[in-house]
Amino acid sequence: TTRVYNLTISDVVGWPDGYNRTLTLINGQFPGPLIEANMGDRLIVNVQNKGVNLTTIHFHGLYQNGTNYMDGTYQISQCGIPPGASFTYNFTVPNQYGTYWYHSHYSTQYMDGVVGPFVIHAQEEDDLIGDMYDYDQVVLVSDWYHGLSDGYLSSYLASGNENTEPVPDNALINGGAYFDCSLTPGDTCYQQDANRTIFSFEQDKTYRLRVVNTGGFAEIIFSVDEHPLTVVEGDGVLITPTTLHKLNVAVAQRYSVLITTNVTGTDTFWVRAALNQYCFATTNPVLVDPEITGVLTYSSSANSVAAPYSNSITADTDSWGDVAANVLCLDLNNTSIEPMVAMEAPEATVFYRIDAGFMIGAYAIDLAYINGTTWKPASSSVLYQAYQMLSPSLSSTVADNNNTELLNTTGTLSLGVFGGDQNQYVINVPDYQVVDVLINNLDDGAHPFHLHGYKFWVMGTGPGAFPYPQYSTFNTTNPMRRDTLQVAAYGWALIRFVADNAGLWPLHCHISWHLEAGLLMQFQVQPDKIAQLEPPAAWAQLCAAQ
Ligand code: C2O
Repeated sequence: TTRVYNLTISDVVGWPDGYNRTLTLINGQFPGPLIEANMGDRLIVNVQNKGVNLTTIHFHGLYQNGTNYMDGTYQISQCGIPPGASFTYNFTVPNQYGTYWYHSHYSTQYMDGVVGPFVIHAQEEDDLIGDMYDYDQVVLVSDWYHGLSDGYLSSYLASGNENTEPVPDNALINGGAYFDCSLTPGDTCYQQDANRTIFSFEQDKTYRLRVVNTGGFAEIIFSVDEHPLTVVEGDGVLITPTTLHKLNVAVAQRYSVLITTNVTGTDTFWVRAALNQYCFATTNPVLVDPEITGVLTYSSSANSVAAPYSNSITADTDSWGDVAANVLCLDLNNTSIEPMVAMEAPEATVFYRIDAGFMIGAYAIDLAYINGTTWKPASSSVLYQAYQMLSPSLSSTVADNNNTELLNTTGTLSLGVFGGDQNQYVINVPDYQVVDVLINNLDDGAHPFHLHGYKFWVMGTGPGAFPYPQYSTFNTTNPMRRDTLQVAAYGWALIRFVADNAGLWPLHCHISWHLEAGLLMQFQVQPDKIAQLEPPAAWAQLCAAQ
């Protein structure tokens, strides 16, 4: 089956929470349309850029086996789609299922609205959890700022502004929220335009809520009053059902939770998406209530209540006051969730250590570094440059492949660097390997690291220094697999993946501010196979036209 979606990007003025600002939207919708497909379908996504900036679309979490050039990463796997131009993404939906999302991968643009949900269905998944629920509902949660992201970005990157991330003004649930306009007198904000999201659900049914954090910075703590959440999926991996009351979702992570609409005595409840303020460097004085609410109602007539713009309704419900508030900025404990389809992690054949942190660089600007290199978009897509230099072995032209080394007992390593002055830190994995990556977070903030093109096993996480003597003792029996993992402040995480997917795949912090400060590196996997991939002419044209 071939499925076709048309996405038109444009800049418009909008007011998701009542506060007017310029947004960059897809088809004038916020969030963008749901893209769904069955595993194995051919997907054609026509993107027309009617906005004022460049754009790209990245399908977050998709393997893109054999189609690395469709990964949509600006100046890595493709050049930007200029204003007025179009580009067609065309690929086979890989052998994976579950909840994903798509977003612009150009600068911080997705924070302005270029996001949407992406769901892959498969018989395999349905056989395992299909009869646990009646209905499917996407729930996108995100932080929200009252201005265009590039303005915040320039002040964030201004000299002397040491790693102080802009603090969100609000949060949104499926693109809607309430904001108290009296907090920003004089600004263009219309109370009656605040549009809190209402979920009208049938009574005595079970709903699969696909919770996606599509934000740029904040971890969100999601809950539904009086309804326990049974987690069954994380990042496209089915999880043995486990019940929670509050769900921590780091930026770019996804969870499916089941809720059953069987509460008696009342029929209207708050759905809460709380910004985890412990992840912020400073607090926002305007952000009086960091807990953003939507409404769940069993009654279809409740749509007519004042809830969309009034803050005065009180749901007489249990807000899970029994659960301690989060006092730390942490991922959901990855050892407490277990994949339903067990997979043993194979022995690693190669080990890399990356040290991630922030340093004051030239002009006293605070930038992010991975092993001494801070990422900046190259002058053209790195993948395109590799094809330009096309030679029997791209490995000698794109990266130095003589510097991979197995872990030795002292943990000393040498790593591949591609053009340090070109700001591209590339580790070359020349052939099939089982790769361990130790992420050392030397920073005082947590970082949700995302690896493109793969899911990885979460072998271990911890505070402080990595316990090298315990390296061989990590549990390999069915650890959690995912594509985005929050690495705690001054902590470490050991992730493992099987490098069987040829391509140039970024590993980066998904906080937009940090990505633009340079917190990104790349794995170049099987360059001889990358050389054999066949990107379409229109793809090369985007770079040639630059
Ligand atoms: Cu959600 Cu580099 O991606």
